[in-house]
Amino acid sequence: MPYRKATAIAHPNIAFIKYWGNRDDALRLPANPSLSMNLGDLVTTTTVAFAGELETDEVTIDGQPAGEAARSRASGHLDLVRDRAGLRGVPARVVSRNNFPIGAGIASSASGFAALTVAACAAVGLDLTERELSALARRGSGSASRSVPGGYTKWLMGQGNASSFAHSVAPADHWDLRDVVVVVSREHKAVGSSRGHGLAVSSPLQSARVAAVPAMLDVCKRVLLAHNLGAMGVLIEQDAVMMHAVMMTSRPALYYWTPETIAAIQAVQSWRAEGLPVYFTIDAGPNVHLICEAADVAEVEGRARTLPGVLDILVSCPGGPARLVEEHLF
Ligand code: PMV
Repeated sequence: MPYRKATAIAHPNIAFIKYWGNRDDALRLPANPSLSMNLGDLVTTTTVAFAGELETDEVTIDGQPAGEAARSRASGHLDLVRDRAGLRGVPARVVSRNNFPIGAGIASSASGFAALTVAACAAVGLDLTERELSALARRGSGSASRSVPGGYTKWLMGQGNASSFAHSVAPADHWDLRDVVVVVSREHKAVGSSRGHGLAVSSPLQSARVAAVPAMLDVCKRVLLAHNLGAMGVLIEQDAVMMHAVMMTSRPALYYWTPETIAAIQAVQSWRAEGLPVYFTIDAGPNVHLICEAADVAEVEGRARTLPGVLDILVSCPGGPARLVEEHLF
């Protein structure tokens, strides 16, 4: 077969209304819809080439051969693309690079699987719609579905595989928000989100959260479209804490927070009381994401640097969709 190569970039995203738990683990059909913002300053670039001469898929991430778990997860995802293109058995070389540290509480799996999906489909000559690409990226990592469209995106629960995709609710330039990530740990989480999703159902709080989220998301989307940070911030904090309450009451229990996480939460509350409009959200890890408007980012970043245990601060503006680029990584 002809040797084809394609490169795509994708941004990770931060969810304002989170995805936690699946109604179908194999297809990654979520228990609830979710809403997020792509992070434009953070980029994953991935080149894929299908090459008959390879024995097996080769995956390199940030200059290192991927560990077996990551390699076989990428391979499983490439199989979905190969099956669609009628190319089962043709191995691929994948080289991926992030401009942000993996394991810093930024969902590199979201940008990773979004970029892999877009690049792999282009490399095999599959011309899919944005919806189809989003639904396909979802199979690699649920939140990757939200990194395919641009700006602020909503991932629909859908009826099944084809209808559970994300679409843009507003472009990146709709609202100049910032995500200021307070990195207090760089350790890889002991329990990854794929396993965590499977545990959600063991918490008696999960059904309450799943029942509450669609209405919360509708309001969150409305206030996002109206640029109302005060109303949105209350919802994103409540939803993040509801998700962590589910995690902490799962069997086995998942505690992602550390004392530094609580210190950041309390600091945000007191900064707000002093008049600084900033709100927190937290993914499956101890690092805290501070959401504010661009006009306040210098003040928020300066204060964030004084928090206990801060190792790093990453700041990002809203980002565009996953897309093909001309420069290849090999
Ligand atoms: O896409 P996953 O399986 O890595 O799950 C992401 C889960 C959270 O980051 C905790 C929430 C979210 O919606 O991004």
